[in-house]
Amino acid sequence: MSTARSKPAAKRKSAARKPAGTRKTPAKRSAAPKRRQAARVAAKPKFTETLVNVRGLKMHFPVTEGAMIPKVVAHVKAVDGINFDIMKGETLGLVGESGCGKTTTGRCILQLERATSGDIIYDGQNLAQLNKKEMRPLRQRIQVIFQDPYSSLNPRMKIGDIITEPMKVHNTEPNETARRNRAHELLEVCGLNPKFSDRYPHEMSGGQRQRVGIARALSVKPEFIICDEAVSALDVSIQAQVINLLEDLRDEFNLTYLFIAHDLSVVRHLCHRVAVMYLGKMVELADCDELFDNPQHPYTQALLNAVPIPDPSIEAKRKHQIIKGEIPSPINPPPGCVFHPRCPIAVDECKKNVPEFREIRPGHWVACSEI
Ligand SMILES: Nc1ncnc2c1ncn2[C@@H]1O[C@H](COP(=O)(O)OP(=O)(O)OP(=O)(O)O)[C@@H](O)[C@H]1O
Ligand code: SF4
Ligand SMILES: [Mg+2]
Repeated sequence: MSTARSKPAAKRKSAARKPAGTRKTPAKRSAAPKRRQAARVAAKPKFTETLVNVRGLKMHFPVTEGAMIPKVVAHVKAVDGINFDIMKGETLGLVGESGCGKTTTGRCILQLERATSGDIIYDGQNLAQLNKKEMRPLRQRIQVIFQDPYSSLNPRMKIGDIITEPMKVHNTEPNETARRNRAHELLEVCGLNPKFSDRYPHEMSGGQRQRVGIARALSVKPEFIICDEAVSALDVSIQAQVINLLEDLRDEFNLTYLFIAHDLSVVRHLCHRVAVMYLGKMVELADCDELFDNPQHPYTQALLNAVPIPDPSIEAKRKHQIIKGEIPSPINPPPGCVFHPRCPIAVDECKKNVPEFREIRPGHWVACSEI
């Protein structure tokens, strides 16, 4: 396993601005954005193989009443019939307001929740139809990184044991020495001193703990990692370091990520495509640049509009479009388009008809009848 990571240095070099005196004349410069755009398109990786197909996924949690004989009185429609694919090697971002069903979607893929209906096809196998034993080898191939590095690491275990435990469970290394060596190697790959393997989680910072969480996920050589708000609990500067690490690891180990987040600026840096959820439904899905530069769904537009611009002079002049009202209850979602009570362009039909999730141009999917 190579631990050399030359890419970030190369990136920094290419991102460096030229000194003012060497910049191009205005006439020549006008062609530069087009060339840069063309170079970006040419540099875009082409993903050809599908790893995950999610079709008609529903997760309706029963709400019960009565202590002696519980009776189902309603259902929380956490995920309500969503479709998407994840290609091998890509990072798909999944964004949306709190409670829209992002984590539930991830948990259904991991089979930590048995979906109410729908199919999750992973590399040709329908996970929804597998029993525990059949699921076991797939648990090694699919790993997860959680939001909270404090609660996701056992406080009574040393870091080395935390990282070697999954190797024992999945029997991926022949003996304890090999497991220890791999743990040291992974700590180094994740930017930590191998000596940290003798520490306890409380002896580390939040960023270091999240790196341990990443090393643990990598320990069984997975191919697909679900990152559920993996950087949300970290300070902004540490967030950037962990994002860069995830990017390097993706390239080094050919990983595929489902990157769940509510911070859109984080998503833009890492993801190839982005899916937007609202109240258990998928409302938009597109290439990352396309979604940020040309959002179509009113909800996506409002989400992007709420992201502050780092330049205070521009930010001060911006008019923020605030989404009115609260997100409705997933127990009793609004009829028709679930976004209609908050939509600035809603028409009467929106209260009756559920908009189709359709491809408005290649690779750009939107659920809105007014587009
Ligand atoms: N086990 C459960 N039983 C009942 N309802 C649940 C359960 N798990 C989640 N929910 C509900 O399902 C909805 C979606 O929850 P989920 O955690 O998937 O949202 P989320 O998009 O990940 O939110 P956040 O950004 O806050 O993490 C919420 O209304 C939540 O209360
Ligand atoms: S279908 Fe209607 S309510 Fe829903 S997003 Fe489009 S315009 Fe708004
Ligand atoms: Mg969540």
